Amino acid sequence: MRNKIIAGNWKMNTLVNQGVQLASSINEYFSNIKLAPHVKIIIGVPFTHIDACTKSVDFTKIAIAAQNCSQYEKGAYTGEVAADMIKSLGAQYVIVGHSERRQIFGETDSIIAQKIANCHKNALFPILCCGETEGERDDGSYFDVVKNQLIASLALTDKFNILRTVIAYEPVWAIGTGKTASPEQAQEMHEYIRKVIAEIYNKDIADQISILYGGSVKPDNAAELFLKDDIDGGLIGGASLKKEDFIKIYQAI
Ligand code: 13P
Repeated sequence: MRNKIIAGNWKMNTLVNQGVQLASSINEYFSNIKLAPHVKIIIGVPFTHIDACTKSVDFTKIAIAAQNCSQYEKGAYTGEVAADMIKSLGAQYVIVGHSERRQIFGETDSIIAQKIANCHKNALFPILCCGETEGERDDGSYFDVVKNQLIASLALTDKFNILRTVIAYEPVWAIGTGKTASPEQAQEMHEYIRKVIAEIYNKDIADQISILYGGSVKPDNAAELFLKDDIDGGLIGGASLKKEDFIKIYQAI
């Protein structure tokens, strides 16, 4: 059975004390819940919050993710944070290749491939983001765009490590816009992503990979998305900053 995953991406929000408060209150809710073994709750926090947040949650229930890591392993790269540093703080996942990083910080698929390799080298699970822009949706190239992102970003990932990778489909036009992909649009792409993974690796592997949907997931649209066969959970931005909303989205799965 594939893992069902609810992952928050706080992006560049909250001060450390506010983040710890949010993580602690989410933790409090889950302390009374018996999670099924295949359900994973993840919160993606700023680098500055990782240490305090890992100490504020029960790691058997809630995993901490970083939102990025360096493509380099160590050395003279001022301002960069290496995968092993993230690992040493107790984080378990790293969001890699988010469209905000691709668009604002110029990350290419080959940089993303290296970041994924660094995660795997350090026993971190990358959450690889992919997705098309509004223009690419409109001109009909969206399947090709996502396929090319996957092939290039996974160029350094072998059959062993792909099973330690989560994929998140995040159509850029749906991020922070309130425009969610319809459950049918999302399912169509998730099914396609699984097919691409089967082509690169094999069908058995593709069937085991969790593929999350991200882009304006809210308590009132989560359930209809999660009901779809190939949607294994969500990567949640804005709504993950509100404890009640994040918990309602968990309840939807
Ligand atoms: P929103 O849920 O705010 O649209 O953000 C989605 C996202 O970018 C998660 O990584």
